Amino acid sequence: MEKSYDNLLIIYYSGTGNSKRVSEWIVEKAKEQGLRTHITSFHQFNPNDIAGFTGKTLIGFFSATHGFNMPHSMLRFLFRFRLLKGSDVFIGNTRAGMKLGKLFLPGLSGIALYFPALIMFFKGYKVKAMYPVDLPSNWISLHPGLRKKVIDSMVEHYERLTKNFAVNILAGKHVFLKSFVLLPLDILVAPFAFGYYFVGRYILAKTFVANYNCNNCMVCIEQCPTKSIILSGNRPYWKFTCESCMKCMNYCPQRAIETAHSLVFVLVFLLTAFANPWLSGKVTELVALWLGHSWMAYKVLLFIVQWGIWIVTFYSGYEFIHYLMRFPKLNKIITYASLTTWKFWRRYRIPNPSVSTRQSGV
Ligand SMILES: Cc1cc2nc3c(=O)[nH]c(=O)nc-3n(C[C@H](O)[C@H](O)[C@H](O)COP(=O)(O)O)c2cc1C
Ligand code: SF4
Ligand code: SF4
Repeated sequence: MEKSYDNLLIIYYSGTGNSKRVSEWIVEKAKEQGLRTHITSFHQFNPNDIAGFTGKTLIGFFSATHGFNMPHSMLRFLFRFRLLKGSDVFIGNTRAGMKLGKLFLPGLSGIALYFPALIMFFKGYKVKAMYPVDLPSNWISLHPGLRKKVIDSMVEHYERLTKNFAVNILAGKHVFLKSFVLLPLDILVAPFAFGYYFVGRYILAKTFVANYNCNNCMVCIEQCPTKSIILSGNRPYWKFTCESCMKCMNYCPQRAIETAHSLVFVLVFLLTAFANPWLSGKVTELVALWLGHSWMAYKVLLFIVQWGIWIVTFYSGYEFIHYLMRFPKLNKIITYASLTTWKFWRRYRIPNPSVSTRQSGV
């Protein structure tokens, strides 16, 4: 049978390894079929690495889902991607899968597949597939990691499905069905994708702290794909550019990174109960008096001021708690007030690959 492609290039965005592993499964299939392959994280992509590509290329972009969307830096990468025009493209995402008894439950993509597919379509690429894979959720700020047995069975299940997908896409087929199954729900949550993109992710960036077990090994600083951790006052400090990919928290050798739940609860309570309604109302009234404008403009202004106050408050609260963490006793109190510190709150990262994937030399 004639090959549909000569080369496969996969560029992924992965915090805890799910999207990387799915990309590796697809590359494994491509190698079996004799394609030239290249696989890389978006932040390490070097166009020189594919200088040897001749003939027809299939490009896959595989990414974690963040707030019902593709993460910001992967979207930015896609917007800037200009290489290999005329190639076919597929968009994939891994989502927060769960398992209930024997039932595999899907996550929710929102616009995480449709939006990147549109970007590549308008850039002139032929979009051949959109494909979600429901591997275990890695959102450890929200919930403890799943149990090993559940994780293993999910990985095994989705490895089989993904390899079937790989066979089809490498044969040049269109694969869209699975991405449209939850379309009504995707449409329903689409507004949250914008909320997360413009506000939510900045707030979440300001919820990580390093506890007293941190020994400044620098692993988190070196490994962060968005270079969002710096040392401040000799302690790791998370910048607004953090995209909550969860890599640092799940890979820290000392298990020293916590989500400061106490900070989150106090600030959310203060903001919703008191500070935000009062302050945003006052600020908006003042600006409205000064500018004079329509009801619609007033509402838009109120919206911007309200969410602006959330971001500023989280920034200030974070500066304060980062300062307090210098003092051993306060550090302990803040640490023990974080659910993530307790033993039952398991960390998550994808288990080591099967022998066959390791042998593929990816
Ligand atoms: C901040 C954050 C937001 C997330 N948002 C979603 C979401 O909107 N929908 C979903 O299905 N999964 C969501 N997830 C789960 C991850 O997308 C999922 O676990 C993914 O497989 C992680 O991939 P990775 O290991 O390659 O980073 C979210 C995870 C995090 C940390
Ligand atoms: S990886 Fe953990 S121990 Fe190392 S610097 Fe980061 S927080 Fe500290
Ligand atoms: S700081 Fe941590 S959670 Fe944020 S982007 Fe970097 S590795 Fe991911």
